[in-house]
Amino acid sequence: MRVVCIGSLNIDHVYRVDHLVRPGETIASSEYQVFAGGKGANQAAALARAGAVVSLAGHIGAEGAWLVDRLRRLGVDTQWTRVVDVPTGHAIIQVDAEGQNSIVLYAGANRTLTGEWAEGVLARFAPGDVLLLQNEVNGVPELIAAGRRHGLQVCLNPAPCGPEVNAYPLDQVDLLVVNETEAASLVGPGAAEDQLARLGARYPAATTVLTLGPNGAWARSPSATAYEPAARVRVVDTTGAGDTFLGFFLAARGDGLSLDRCLRRASVAAGLCVSRVGATDSVPTSGEVDALGSPD
Ligand code: RIB
Repeated sequence: MRVVCIGSLNIDHVYRVDHLVRPGETIASSEYQVFAGGKGANQAAALARAGAVVSLAGHIGAEGAWLVDRLRRLGVDTQWTRVVDVPTGHAIIQVDAEGQNSIVLYAGANRTLTGEWAEGVLARFAPGDVLLLQNEVNGVPELIAAGRRHGLQVCLNPAPCGPEVNAYPLDQVDLLVVNETEAASLVGPGAAEDQLARLGARYPAATTVLTLGPNGAWARSPSATAYEPAARVRVVDTTGAGDTFLGFFLAARGDGLSLDRCLRRASVAAGLCVSRVGATDSVPTSGEVDALGSPD
């Protein structure tokens, strides 16, 4: 299995704060750091770290070239990532004393993708390969349809999940990965098991993964359902945890592991991620996950 992620690359500006800023409030930060990020880049990094063959195709501005270098060093193929005459996407991220975050995105170059370029990328992949998408680039509904036209499996993490996602051709998605907020946006609020059942009823042919942060994760395929509690760790920074989870889950699925073993590896990887600062840089290696993961 090869994975092609058509997705975002962001420069993450991370501010350490006592609490997340409230409406009308001005607060001081105690630390400022710049990290490599973007859901596309983070998920591609996680796939590479997990041992998958992965390409990241996206757009950056000239000042974002270091993001591509970082991904290459992690083993991600970046040959289709282009420099355009628009600033690189960036994220303003607050991380509070408990490691929770809030994120404001500026899409920049991430939203300058063209259909012609995407067709050229997808033409290099074949049935059996996977197209991985998030919702930080333009043209996601067209990309889902194009992926299917090329015979690829489509994995979608509809984050951030605006109301427009409900109009996407989600029935063409093979693997849908959502958190509670995204699930609520698609099928309404409720208990996790209910949301999972509603997602399963709406997309019966798909595998659905519902991540719940510290409350673990559920997965449901047409033939099985599994749950895995979250790893118990000291939380430093939750940024990129969902991306790490997804990358390790997808890589394990590509290796033919059962649903519960995919969840277990993904959960261990996300636990390691939240114990470190940063996004792309906080993805653990496969060896670290092996060392902590259950061998069964
Ligand atoms: O999922 C975390 C990522 O969301 C950050 O790296 C940030 O860039 C935003 O895309």
